Amino acid sequence: MTTPSVVRAEDAEGVCEQAAQEFLRLAEESVAARGRFAVALSGGSTPRALYQLLSGQPNRGRVDWSSVEFFWGDERSVPPDDEESNFRMVREAMLQTLAVPEAQIHRMEAEREDFDAAAREYQETIARVLQVSAAGPPPPLDLVFLGMGPDGHTASLFPETKALDETTRWVVPNEVPQLNTRRMTLTVPMINAARSVIFLVAGEKKATLLAEVLYGPSQPHQLPSQLIAPVSGRLTWLVDEAASRKLPASISK
Ligand code: 6PG
Repeated sequence: MTTPSVVRAEDAEGVCEQAAQEFLRLAEESVAARGRFAVALSGGSTPRALYQLLSGQPNRGRVDWSSVEFFWGDERSVPPDDEESNFRMVREAMLQTLAVPEAQIHRMEAEREDFDAAAREYQETIARVLQVSAAGPPPPLDLVFLGMGPDGHTASLFPETKALDETTRWVVPNEVPQLNTRRMTLTVPMINAARSVIFLVAGEKKATLLAEVLYGPSQPHQLPSQLIAPVSGRLTWLVDEAASRKLPASISK
């Protein structure tokens, strides 16, 4: 496991600007090394500006979009055109502008009745695209973007839920009783296999939680974001000033 780096930006916009630069850098590096860039995108409100930045100029012209494979870190159990859909958010903020071929857009089909089958098929899709066996260990995505919810969840790994204990599967359905819903999510081993994981955290409301997750006692079942620790990849927390107010002075200044 590598030590996480905490990188501070002035505000949420700055967080997204830095994230966009990392996307560009890693896309170039991955395409040069492996001929493709496999990225998992997050939902939530913070990254919308990141997706808009990537699909606008000048960034848009700096990426070889024909080599990018889009995955999602999690999805709500709604149809793809629902306002709650993480896929819809990314499509509207970025994909529709870029006109990326459908074959490179791998959305989680979390609207399906057979949730378990949908999760297994998503694992098979990842395996097919990354050219590995779906029966093996999770393969490394080049980049996984994550957010952190107000209860310490990340992706759809919510406190005290079953998905937190998954050790084999790459993608699972997850019952979330506290929200009276179910979600689909990449698992901890899948996220931790990534070459790069980047959290985007902004806003004063996250300040206490961020300090607890990064520097408080280990309580991963209560604070699932603490489970994210890439095995050999890089972990970066991109945080804004407001969210970093409770961090040790060496980081928050
Ligand atoms: C989702 C997410 C979730 C999100 C966090 C942070 O579908 O809701 O993927 O894990 O990233 O809740 O969301 P904000 O950026 O809105 O704070």
